[in-house]
Amino acid sequence: MKFFLDTANIEEIKRINELGLVDGVTTNPTLISKEGRPFEEVIKEICSIVKGPVSAEVIGLNAEEMIKEAREIATWAKNVVVKIPMTEEGLKAVNILSNEGIKTNVTLIFTISQGLMATKAGASFISPFLGRLDDIGSNGVELVRNLRTVLDNYGYETEIIAASVRNIGHLESVAEVGSHIATVPGSLFPKLWSHPLTDSGIEDFLEDWKKYERNMK
Ligand code: E4P
Repeated sequence: MKFFLDTANIEEIKRINELGLVDGVTTNPTLISKEGRPFEEVIKEICSIVKGPVSAEVIGLNAEEMIKEAREIATWAKNVVVKIPMTEEGLKAVNILSNEGIKTNVTLIFTISQGLMATKAGASFISPFLGRLDDIGSNGVELVRNLRTVLDNYGYETEIIAASVRNIGHLESVAEVGSHIATVPGSLFPKLWSHPLTDSGIEDFLEDWKKYERNMK
């Protein structure tokens, strides 16, 4: 499974990218607004740090506005992907943009049908939102499992980005059900490689090593 970082924070991206763990980045208007810097500047900087796909979302609500924004965003970097909301107008835009060779990530997917429609329209990526589904008592992981089955049934090349990931359980489960990608908030990433028993195990070993060295003198 590929790991994307779900953040627009440059420091966070640089730190985790140094570990060789970042296959791409996803942003959204909320994440960009937290940085207090111009949208274009932030996206260009992220695209220069990370080699993989970097999603930047349009603000327009009708297809014409979305297409105009998308064409502009697509000039910012080779690895930029335009994020389009899952609406009728969004589908119209995705269809036109994909025919122009502009990569899209259709966001705010909550059902199999929405995922299938976005895929058929030509989306490069679809983003089911796990956490927000769990918040309303639905099962986000099941949606990812079912979407993967549907894509595989018909040989679609569209990739699933498990989004709105809130905890390690989400990540482990979407890996099990075959999500192509999971996008992970910067705050959650370090939890993927840490465990208190690892830390206490290292302490125990070092303590015993000190005793051993003392005895060997
Ligand atoms: C994904 O592309 C979105 O930016 C993100 O995962 C949304 O997560 P949230 O539901 O925690 O805001």
